[in-house]
Amino acid sequence: MGLEIMGLDLSQPLPGKVKRELRRLIHEYSVLLFRGQNRTCHHEADFLRIFPHNETAYELGERGAGSTSNRIGGILGCPHTVAEFKAPYRISEDEERNRKYWFGHSWHCDEAFKAVAPPLYTAISMKVAAATGGETLYIDSRKAYEQTRRELKSIIDKARLEYYVIDKKFGAELHDTGRHRMDNMTNARLKAMQSDLPAIPSGVHPLVTQDPRTGRRSIYVTPEAAYAFSGYTPQDTHRILHEVLSPAISAENVYVHHWRAGDILVWPQRQVIHSYTPKSRYEGRERHFHQLHVPAHLPVFPAT
Ligand SMILES: [Fe+2]
Repeated sequence: MGLEIMGLDLSQPLPGKVKRELRRLIHEYSVLLFRGQNRTCHHEADFLRIFPHNETAYELGERGAGSTSNRIGGILGCPHTVAEFKAPYRISEDEERNRKYWFGHSWHCDEAFKAVAPPLYTAISMKVAAATGGETLYIDSRKAYEQTRRELKSIIDKARLEYYVIDKKFGAELHDTGRHRMDNMTNARLKAMQSDLPAIPSGVHPLVTQDPRTGRRSIYVTPEAAYAFSGYTPQDTHRILHEVLSPAISAENVYVHHWRAGDILVWPQRQVIHSYTPKSRYEGRERHFHQLHVPAHLPVFPAT
């Protein structure tokens, strides 16, 4: 997965055939990288318009299914820029050296735990890259689906995954690899959820989604915010999720992006699962980026 596109200046209007080719390539390669692009948030937002989106939602700066509560709001005068992160990153005392739970440190799809139609595409535009650390990890979730054994596919094809947001933090150990250990946290989190489960889920989405154009299926999931498939126990659900995701997240299937200033990376939210790496790895170093979402008002389509 992953393709670097060279020779384009994204602050300039792109010819129609280039736009069409980029729309094709992003679904073929899952992650597109453009280097040397130091552009404003307005340039970034204009560029992302070349990908399929809901124009009204885009104009309004919405990310979800259209209600005002789903409005991004924007920053920097750009409604599509959902976040601007600036470092040197300082870990607060409360974060206990950043070892508290944050699902961004585990594999996830943005917005999965919300009752909204998630954005179709997300982009990060790196202004200043940390000298070390801060890599972002990507896996192709179509491959995750395709590698799953047939008997399990028949279960997950119909699975609807319930998410609950709980306001509890858990400590997560750092692994030898520098990643957080999520397995022990999953258990602690499930226990806490079960003892104090809100009346209704914060979001419910099909685990397997199907691209209506190509028919290819992929996994849409944020395991660390997930509770259970409807009709399944949380333990069985997480056992299945573990089996489905394990081959996909093995080192040879992961694209690790080492950021450089000027990088713009774009990916489709529904065919890529991503993860950030611990903030403690770049604590105190300069780092600055914009994150943008492309709204579509399209639900996560179930497999048919
Ligand atoms: Fe994310």
